[in-house]
Amino acid sequence: MFAVIQLTLIVLGARLAWRLSNRFLSKDHWGAVPGPAPESWLTGSLLKLVSQDAAQYHEKLAREFGRVVKFTGLFKENILYVYDPKALYHIFVKTRNALLQQLNKNAGEKELDVASWMTRTMLEFTGQSGFGYSFDSLTEDSEEHPFVTSLKGFMCAISDTPVVVARLLLSPYAHLVSPKTQRAIIDFLPWKQMHRIRDMVDVMHNTSLDIFEATKRSANEGDGLGRKDIMSVLFKANNAASDQDKIPESELVAQVSTITFAAMDTTSNAMSRIVFLLSQHPDIQEKVRAELCDAFQDEEELDYEVLSSLPYLDAVVKETLRVHPPLPFINREAVRDAVLPLQKPITSRKGEIVDSIFVPKGSKIMLSLSNCNTDTEIWGPDAGEWKPERWLSPLRSSVQEAHVPGVYSNLMTFSGGGRACIGFKVSKLEMKVLLSVLLPTFKFAPSDKRIIWEWNAVVQPTTEDAKVAANGAREPELPLKVALVQA
Ligand code: HEM
Repeated sequence: MFAVIQLTLIVLGARLAWRLSNRFLSKDHWGAVPGPAPESWLTGSLLKLVSQDAAQYHEKLAREFGRVVKFTGLFKENILYVYDPKALYHIFVKTRNALLQQLNKNAGEKELDVASWMTRTMLEFTGQSGFGYSFDSLTEDSEEHPFVTSLKGFMCAISDTPVVVARLLLSPYAHLVSPKTQRAIIDFLPWKQMHRIRDMVDVMHNTSLDIFEATKRSANEGDGLGRKDIMSVLFKANNAASDQDKIPESELVAQVSTITFAAMDTTSNAMSRIVFLLSQHPDIQEKVRAELCDAFQDEEELDYEVLSSLPYLDAVVKETLRVHPPLPFINREAVRDAVLPLQKPITSRKGEIVDSIFVPKGSKIMLSLSNCNTDTEIWGPDAGEWKPERWLSPLRSSVQEAHVPGVYSNLMTFSGGGRACIGFKVSKLEMKVLLSVLLPTFKFAPSDKRIIWEWNAVVQPTTEDAKVAANGAREPELPLKVALVQA
């Protein structure tokens, strides 16, 4: 086994060296596209763009260079940073076409960590609706499920700089090495952080297997026929499919982590942001509460139609998702040579007006969802401000004219095209349901601690006093003062 690992490392090293030397020798297709000078010869400007305090740097890029920017990544790799709506549309349609071709007790006034409750609640929503599984009894003293501990630590752990560098360099070759060999390489390397990540992955995989086996048992024993959670539906659909359409069980198992990941951190941090903003704007908080209390009248709970029809609640959710998308950027790689048309031409370094950009096969593109959502030419001069009222009257004509290719309300928050978020409706509903449950009962006010929003793949709240994880990163927390609403 030792020889196999050594040989694999040598082959991977040689491929990497070949790829890097090509990078230095080949033509720079984006030489004319404006952009910042690299910060370092090794990592270019990449670490600034993916660091935990990257928010200001992304804003600076948009301010200084506009909708299309060239920046330097690892070992002088050129990366295109884009939020021109037409260019974004082009990328999403391309992806879609390519796919088509292939196919309460605690509130008195008390400071509570709202982030941890949001995470636990969203995880429980996802567990129940996704897999008919309960991760958390949602009582104050219940112990955290190991799956949750791993899932929460995972994003932070993989955002550690050496791990980010290794991921960027090695992920193009991962498919060349079997999972068993990858595992052996990781066991072999004396790299503590990577071993922590391996152990987290093991916990998540084993929990996913347990969930899948439970679904299978209940379906086979006949008592799962009426279950409507995503895993039961997938399992039944897969059983009913013809042999050639069936997907392997390992892929069904993988859906547990995929869905939990995609659903939990994004929605819970969006919810944390909403509650944080409401705590900063008590007048707006009061208006949403009044709208909800009015809708409840004598009802115990609000049904889907009523919740969807509340304009102020909707405006608060939309405006938060616009100004503060939980995933501020996503990445793409060109699968073939392409030309990216631009809605707004850019001025090249030579002073020429350019209205399209050649994108060679294999090049990386970073799509800035946050800058597109707060572009002043689309949303107006107050685009960067959080103003739910803007959704209560017809939007500026520039919003329609921009043809932003997002799946939701002219926003890029849930991306667009064939690989857009599949959970945006459920996520919106989850947030509204949770707000409808919390706001009539609780009031939220800022605590004395300064909240820092860190970019850990998903944007998360933390404070200077937050517990520090093993990799040196601060753990998420959102301390807010919570009190009961006086009748
Ligand atoms: C506020 C909450 C959410 C936000 C901001 C969000 C955002 C996104 C974004 C930007 C993508 C595209 C990622 C990329 O292309 O790299 C995505 C993909 C995805 N999302 Fe969400 N999401 C949210 C909630 C959810 C929920 C609740 C679910 C599941 C129930 C979900 C399931 C998925 C899945 C499965 C994908 C991958 C789709 C594919 O690649 O075909 N998301 N999401």
